[in-house]
Amino acid sequence: VTPQLNARGDVAVLVPAAGAGLRLGPGGPKALRLLAGEPLLVHAIRRVAASPSVRTIVVAAPAAEVEAVRDLLATVAPVTVVAGGAERQESVALALAAVPADVPIVLVHDAARALTPPELIESVAAAVRAGHPAVIPVLPVVDTIKEVGPGGDGSETVLGTVDRAVLRSVQTPQGFRHDVLAAAHASASDPLTDDAGLVEKAGLPVTCVPGSDLALKITRPLDLVLAEALLHLR
Ligand code: C5P
Repeated sequence: VTPQLNARGDVAVLVPAAGAGLRLGPGGPKALRLLAGEPLLVHAIRRVAASPSVRTIVVAAPAAEVEAVRDLLATVAPVTVVAGGAERQESVALALAAVPADVPIVLVHDAARALTPPELIESVAAAVRAGHPAVIPVLPVVDTIKEVGPGGDGSETVLGTVDRAVLRSVQTPQGFRHDVLAAAHASASDPLTDDAGLVEKAGLPVTCVPGSDLALKITRPLDLVLAEALLHLR
């Protein structure tokens, strides 16, 4: 039996949290790193659980940490914890398998985006509910982005400059009609870094909604400092 938060909710949220987080420097799995004294995963789940549309949450934890994550989240929210896989995409597929068939909307949300506000979760879910098969939160790109290739002496050389005006940074939660995400994962071949990419490959439209600065992905040590500052701002 899948634990439920809100029986009237129409959304399942999958939280891939099985990454090693090597870019954060040495330490345990990224989702369990502390931010203001609590694991990133706890911050993330608390905000997911505060979203009124959410009926059920499935966390993909590192295989060795499933029991520990279950204990950790027991007092935060009712969640299902499954063992994740070697790639993010595999972790998502394993979590998806635990979602009851009658939940119409599935969101995929990185544990590393620990400060994502419930309002963003609701706006992505609302856009799927309004008829969009796949929805992603995006922000404009602030840096100039260049495409590079190998240079002569082990350096990189610029191949071209992409027009920044048509680029977007993509966040999570990414939202899908349950059947659309299931079909996309069933036909997935190469691992991608996000789930909307699978839907794009299947030829379906992916719709953008405005993202949030608070949904930053805590990836590098500096991000932890920024996240801590953002927590204290609120
Ligand atoms: O590595 P990256 O920052 O893209 O990871 C994004 C999210 O995917 C993180 O929350 C991480 O824990 C999760 N992940 C996973 N299983 C993996 C690799 C990453 O659940 N094998």
